[in-house]
Amino acid sequence: MKAIAVRPGVPASIHARTVPRPSISEVPDGRGVRVEVLRVGIDGTDREISDGLFGTAPPGDDYLVIGHESLGRVVEVGPRVPRDLAVGTLVVATVRRPGGSAYDRLGMQDFTTDAPIERGINGRHGFLSEQFVEDASFLVPLPTGLSGIGVLLEPMSIAEKGLSQADEIQRRLRIWRPARAAVFGAGTIGLLVTLVLRLRGVDVTVLSRRRPPYRNSVLVEALGGTYVSSEGTDLAAVAKDHGSFDLVFEASGFSPFVFQAAGALAPNGVLVLSGVTGGSRTIEIDANAFNQALVLGNRVIVGTVNASREDFVRGVTDMLRAEAFHAGWLGQLLTTPVAGLDDAQAVLAALEAPDSIKAYVEVRPDDDPDRGASHRGSQ
Ligand code: BGC
Ligand code: ZN
Repeated sequence: MKAIAVRPGVPASIHARTVPRPSISEVPDGRGVRVEVLRVGIDGTDREISDGLFGTAPPGDDYLVIGHESLGRVVEVGPRVPRDLAVGTLVVATVRRPGGSAYDRLGMQDFTTDAPIERGINGRHGFLSEQFVEDASFLVPLPTGLSGIGVLLEPMSIAEKGLSQADEIQRRLRIWRPARAAVFGAGTIGLLVTLVLRLRGVDVTVLSRRRPPYRNSVLVEALGGTYVSSEGTDLAAVAKDHGSFDLVFEASGFSPFVFQAAGALAPNGVLVLSGVTGGSRTIEIDANAFNQALVLGNRVIVGTVNASREDFVRGVTDMLRAEAFHAGWLGQLLTTPVAGLDDAQAVLAALEAPDSIKAYVEVRPDDDPDRGASHRGSQ
């Protein structure tokens, strides 16, 4: 079957290739599920992998099939697969697989202390192929009504995990409920975090470089959020003018922001960092002021990566709520389709496309009538 792969560590090695079709017998205990891939989203991690900066091949292979943002349909199940994954079910796979640490043994591989094993990224082939096989416990069923936007569930799970980490940590405060939040970055993750916060009634300000109006700023405002260009201002200045933030979510990958954001947090506030920043960047900061802000305000900074199955399930619920309260909004994130698995260069080009929010590969056009309808509705 067809797939798109790289030779990890070799820049510009992205290529289309033929790989063996997987079989459900590869999964023990009759829990195997064969999934026909419909769409696969691509993101900055795929760009880093294709630049040779990130990613490892599965043991014994010299290539890695990429793609970790999946959407597919179940086509075959083993005898011990639960009924909610019956043939025909729309599914999204989680990304990380258990290693050997104590967290992995509890099913908390998103908190592994080992080198992470991630499909399409680290040590396991991904989903950018005609089919994949997976253990039922790593698949999340979606209602067919989400077929048009289900490929956004993996990035949605990243937003859900970051926000649920903030909630977990803030339980220390017994009565904490965020009223005002700032999101830094208006890409896919920043927009999805904004959506989830708006669904909870939080007042959200989004900061990003580009001057409004453009597609992303319009999407923020459609949710009732406020968009501010970070050109000529910073979060500390915004907080000074409009009040400080109970929660700040960093989704831009601009690391100096960490130090700006700490000063814009309200007392007891929490700063969530989700940007993966390779390479290095040096800046000068007032370390005393930074320390003082954290100490005297009982403020918290937390990093977050990957997501648990529960975060994916929360994502499904919030996607349904989004379709109810902001119909068609999520579909507008799907800006940049690439057709089929033949042209690996087109995948790379889609990642660089100007004015793109989410690039994705249309691996197999779905014949489900629901999907056509919801897709048309979002144009
Ligand atoms: C993926 C995560 C993964 C992280 C680090 C992100 O792009 O969405 O699932 O844990 O990269 O590899
Ligand atoms: Zn990703």
